[in-house]
Amino acid sequence: MRRPLIAGNWKMNGSKADSVDLLNGILAGAAEIMRADIAVCPPFPYLQIAEQALGGSAVFWGAQDVSNETSGAFTGQVSAQMLADFGCHFVIVGHSERRLFNAESDDLVARKYAQAMAHGLTPILCVGETLEEREGGQTEAVVARQLDAVLQTSGVDGIAKGVIAYEPVWAIGTGVTATPAQAQDVHAFLRGRIAAQGQDVATRVRILYGGSMKPDNAQELIGQADIDGGLIGGAALKAADFLAICRAGD
Ligand code: G3P
Repeated sequence: MRRPLIAGNWKMNGSKADSVDLLNGILAGAAEIMRADIAVCPPFPYLQIAEQALGGSAVFWGAQDVSNETSGAFTGQVSAQMLADFGCHFVIVGHSERRLFNAESDDLVARKYAQAMAHGLTPILCVGETLEEREGGQTEAVVARQLDAVLQTSGVDGIAKGVIAYEPVWAIGTGVTATPAQAQDVHAFLRGRIAAQGQDVATRVRILYGGSMKPDNAQELIGQADIDGGLIGGAALKAADFLAICRAGD
């Protein structure tokens, strides 16, 4: 009953010309994907290119981050309103690279989530533990804390308007993918935690897996009961690979 979502997080990669090529490559194959939703999240400067290329197609686009502020003297930040202005449907919040390199706290991420929703965007909330946390048996405590910050700020109804992405930090860009069983365990835990506040929301909310998802492992991961698609980094930069993952989710 949950429609799979395959979303590409391009991170800080590519040029204007690369973005046009990648978007055209994705568009060329996207029409064959029937059951899965497809989205791309290019860097901010290329959102206009995405809007021009993808407008009128079935492919969604979104951004990789958003300000928690509405407007004003916030040099370098980009508001949810601006993203909506460029036709963004999604925005990623709380990616581990922002938590790590930009010291984003759970509270800040929760405010970004709320700000995105307030402007009609669908936030993709990233949660996930580091290797040290996993080895210390902290995985559930960490993802619970990250999820709870949003539950406290936006409530379970807020969770219903977004998407969750479980991205174990140790699997991101490393080529080490969580096993389907490892990922499924955490997805089931997250869904259970949401169910405690709203069974219906838990049944409907999409929980994506991210972390070295590739064409050759996508099908098995997405085949797990609580994995509803993927948030793809490296493999989203080649149209053929990204489309292969979309087909695995289809
Ligand atoms: O947001 C997607 C991401 O962090 C996963 O990256 O390169 O491991 O697919 P990658």
